[in-house]
Amino acid sequence: MAAAGGTGPIGPYPPDVGDDPLAQEEYDKLRRRVLWTFPSGLYVIGSRADERRNGMTANWVTQVSFEPKLVGIGIEHGALTHDLITAGGVFSVCTVAREDRAIVRKFTKPVEVDVAAMTLNGFAFHDGVTGAPILDQAPAYVDCRVAHSIELGNHTFFVGEVADAAFQAAEDIEVLRMEDTRMNYGG
Ligand SMILES: Cc1cc2nc3c(=O)[nH]c(=O)nc-3n(C[C@H](O)[C@H](O)[C@H](O)COP(=O)(O)O)c2cc1C
Repeated sequence: MAAAGGTGPIGPYPPDVGDDPLAQEEYDKLRRRVLWTFPSGLYVIGSRADERRNGMTANWVTQVSFEPKLVGIGIEHGALTHDLITAGGVFSVCTVAREDRAIVRKFTKPVEVDVAAMTLNGFAFHDGVTGAPILDQAPAYVDCRVAHSIELGNHTFFVGEVADAAFQAAEDIEVLRMEDTRMNYGG
């Protein structure tokens, strides 16, 4: 994962910060804390190119159109997930049950895939209609084909059209949100 929030203070700076490096650093930290307060969910993104599959924790996930049904995800350059989505053109977005919160720590590095056992880091999965892996214990998922890829700084915003969506558990199950954890990302 790239350095949280960037490699050092990043401009532009508002007029009251000016050219003072210390003020710039303070402002950089404050802006990060502001961005961290944006509420978000926490998901596992499934990706696949040929037989290589991966699962990755992500919170930059949002629906971006309802006609057609488009979902966007912001993925770091350098992540295996980025390579697999670029090559394979598919991804899944799996929600996580609140009581399964420990899962998200297991998907912050390229995962061990056991194709014979159909597991990602020991978690059972199946392939969706696009071929992207879907965690069996995800309360719900959408399975997407990439429709647009937008280069945005150190991330690519992959926009996928929903090819399939389903619940795999009770519809009213509580799903994990960033504020349920002590983690953050970006900022
Ligand atoms: C709470 C949390 C949220 C994250 N959200 C994102 C995200 O939205 N986009 C992203 O590219 N990486 C995100 N990451 C980082 C990836 O999980 C991490 O960079 C991972 O190493 C990249 O995975 P990969 O190389 O297996 O594809 C997040 C990490 C954590 C801990």
